[in-house]
Amino acid sequence: MEFKRSDFPEGFIFGAATAAYQIEGHKFGGAGPTHWDTFAATPGNVVRQEDGALACDHYHRYAEDLDLLQAAGMDGYRFSTSWARVMPEGRGAVNEEGLDYYDRLVDAMLERGLQPFQTLYHWEMPAALSDLGGWTNRDVASWFGDFTDVITRRLGDRVQATATINEPWCVAFLSHFLGIHAPGHRDIRDTARAMHHVLLAHAEAMERMRANGTKNLGVVLNFDRAVPANDTPGAAQAATLQDGIFNRWYIEAITKGTYPADVLEGLLQYMPKGWEEDLTRINQPMDWLGVNYYTRNHYERDDNISWPHLKLAEGPLPKTQMGWEIYPEGLHYFLTRLAKDYVGDMPIYVTENGMAWGDTVENGAVFDPERMAYVNDHMLATKRAIEDGANVKGFFYWSLLDNYEWAEGYEKRFGMVHVDFETLKRTPKATYHALANALKG
Ligand code: FCB
Repeated sequence: MEFKRSDFPEGFIFGAATAAYQIEGHKFGGAGPTHWDTFAATPGNVVRQEDGALACDHYHRYAEDLDLLQAAGMDGYRFSTSWARVMPEGRGAVNEEGLDYYDRLVDAMLERGLQPFQTLYHWEMPAALSDLGGWTNRDVASWFGDFTDVITRRLGDRVQATATINEPWCVAFLSHFLGIHAPGHRDIRDTARAMHHVLLAHAEAMERMRANGTKNLGVVLNFDRAVPANDTPGAAQAATLQDGIFNRWYIEAITKGTYPADVLEGLLQYMPKGWEEDLTRINQPMDWLGVNYYTRNHYERDDNISWPHLKLAEGPLPKTQMGWEIYPEGLHYFLTRLAKDYVGDMPIYVTENGMAWGDTVENGAVFDPERMAYVNDHMLATKRAIEDGANVKGFFYWSLLDNYEWAEGYEKRFGMVHVDFETLKRTPKATYHALANALKG
């Protein structure tokens, strides 16, 4: 690596991130079914119809996994607490076994000097609530508020920071318009509702946590750099609209209490009644912002496609196993843009950044120079953003472990630690060792 710990400001947090359903093994410990279980069981949605029933069995192996973080000299761990594990029906009865598990998990982090960064919703909508419409039902905000209250009353005294929702764009657009993630809807009215209700749920959770004394609250948004595929005015317009749908919709509502006019133009007729009155509530005070960043995409306008008239074009740069262009400059772009246009001095954490590659174990080791370069270049982009005034306080690599990559099943490997999904053996990759080394300096 071309950076070391001391190149970053004092107190900067280096860590790694995971999410409950992707690693825990959902069949253990009395968790209820989620919309991911049923989505995965339906042919055509997920590679090899794989689900998170076993995943990395982190539920039983969490001590070994946290040891790996500690041994690498990491300062923090971003994890999520599954709604369906804590409340199997989504409402009402609490699964004490689930609460006890998260209790042990947080204590195990603290014992290892790892600061716990919790995320409340990383996509495990309990199936019973999905039956009632999930994110398309306005009541989701109060259901989520109740879950938030239960879990934060239990953990809030020990976690360092809590985020409400992971990647609202994925929760709403990817899952209700593009149909790629659970619940796999492809409906513009559902989409507009989900885009609004996910923010309402964020607001409700923030209010509930302020009321119960949980400290240091934020949200995790994802940002994709959208650029025109060519120099036609149509392509420029397409890239701007995509930036609105993916990036501005959420950050603008949360930090300014407005929705971007260019996106509203396409969605207005599908918005739920009374949305305007909710915006002041959505504009909650926050303590920090989480930024997930992976790639950039190229857009053209295609009038043969209905709103938003977007067509993706191939980009020129090298790509990861996901087919995502490697574009570290985009991380610098967003960190500085967010500071300047939206959050000012509010602390920003890079809560996810990383790459998938077809890693293999050879002679007991994994050599992943592509990932080392990816991490190096994104860390340097972060450092430049700090020099240019963004108040970035930490960086969490996605992900600690190879895991259940949603619609891609177990095929796409993002981990800095390799997992053999037959034996569940963990093998730290060269990136892990290189990071551990950089953190010593
Ligand atoms: C993000 C998700 C995370 C993982 C990475 C690759 O969108 O938050 O769970 O799937 O992408």
